[in-house]
Amino acid sequence: MSPSISLTINGEARAVALDDPRVTLLDLLRERLDLPGTKKGCDRGQCGACTVLVDGRRVNSCLTLAATLDGAEITTIEGLALGEELHPVQAAFIENDAFQCGYCTPGQIMSAVGLISEGSAGDDPERIREGMSGNICRCAAYHGITIAVQEATR
Ligand code: FES
Repeated sequence: MSPSISLTINGEARAVALDDPRVTLLDLLRERLDLPGTKKGCDRGQCGACTVLVDGRRVNSCLTLAATLDGAEITTIEGLALGEELHPVQAAFIENDAFQCGYCTPGQIMSAVGLISEGSAGDDPERIREGMSGNICRCAAYHGITIAVQEATR
């Protein structure tokens, strides 16, 4: 029998079998738990596309071994909206055109949610840019992203 871990994912308690101790949280979410909203970009901690919240803190899920997370609470982009009601950060991204192709957007939004709850940047654009610097946007939608995070912070 495979070892298993207990996770709470987007509010739902789940026992997850881990037949490979090397599986990352990113691959677990996308390939085994049918949660493809979290994106794989570089797969080496450089782009932020895979950002999720673990116990409320931002992590690169591509660098996080699932086996280390027994008992953790994971929030992914799929867990942000309440039914039809978007999370304020999601709404602010739409209102401010804070994306172009959209591939990095789930990671950007999860990072913004984490940054806002850390409370370290406030609505200061310089500090928001610094706080979001781990999330790369190849379309360079940074201006809209910063405005969206500012708006969602207020
Ligand atoms: Fe994880 Fe790029 S896919 S940081």
